[in-house]
Amino acid sequence: MAPPRPERAKFDTTVPSEGRIADYFLGGKDNFAADRAAAEQVLAIAPELPALAREGRRFLGRAVRFLAADAGIRQFVDIGCGLPTQGNVHEIAQSAAPGARVVYVDNDPMVATHGQALLQDDRLTTVVEADALDPARMLTHPRLTAMIDLGRPVAILLFSLLHNFPDDDLVTQMIKHLQKAVAPGSYLAFSHAVSDLRPETTARLAAVYQAQGSIMGPPRGNLRTKAQVERLFEGLEFVDPGVAYIPEWRPDGAVLHRPGSVWVVGGVGRTTR
Ligand SMILES: C[S@@+](CC[C@H](N)C(=O)[O-])C[C@H]1O[C@@H](n2cnc3c(N)ncnc32)[C@H](O)[C@@H]1O
Repeated sequence: MAPPRPERAKFDTTVPSEGRIADYFLGGKDNFAADRAAAEQVLAIAPELPALAREGRRFLGRAVRFLAADAGIRQFVDIGCGLPTQGNVHEIAQSAAPGARVVYVDNDPMVATHGQALLQDDRLTTVVEADALDPARMLTHPRLTAMIDLGRPVAILLFSLLHNFPDDDLVTQMIKHLQKAVAPGSYLAFSHAVSDLRPETTARLAAVYQAQGSIMGPPRGNLRTKAQVERLFEGLEFVDPGVAYIPEWRPDGAVLHRPGSVWVVGGVGRTTR
């Protein structure tokens, strides 16, 4: 279903990588000069990006804890997982449900190589290099099928990934494919940056990302709005509070940001056929 796309370059430290830029925002060490230069370019427009990245990881933690502890999910596929950081999905899921299996997926070869090296002795967790836009191929990857039984409920995680793909049809097809491929009782969880709160900032960012080549497909001029994101997931049965700005999704501690300062929405929804 994915349109033909240029072959992704193998590990190249001179070309900025989204995973390594995210690592820089989170205070990690797995980034290079080209990543830091690209990161500084977007930080000049939106200095709040590192705070948003941290808030995104906190939301991911709450969502995964909910899925493992409350929804009884024992299998997770984290698509567009990024480089290992603090509070990885397998650590959170397995602390709530020992024995939970986690497959990380990313199309960045450095993410896959790094993760495989860190997890080589872990029987419950693995990393697969695959393209989210080719879900049929991704879900039949032998490393994934060795770990995940798609005949049983699974949580598919799409955190900070879908705003990379401006083409609604492509994203809707991907989500529908994932929904059909999983067993009843499965969940999709996601986060997605939106334009409603800071339309001028997000339009400037979209233009820079487009010029850097990190956003594929035809330019849409800005990020999706919250309502446009909700339409992508029509048919999912969202748990309370539905699709929400992420600090407001089941907060479990101190509120670290002013209301309205985090322009990222997210949700956790049960799949329906
Ligand atoms: C901003 S990082 C998000 C990391 C993590 N999910 C989080 O929320 O902190 C996005 C990741 O998606 C990956 N990615 C981008 N396009 C992808 C695709 N088509 N298939 C798989 N992964 C992709 C990037 O390589 C990067 O590691």
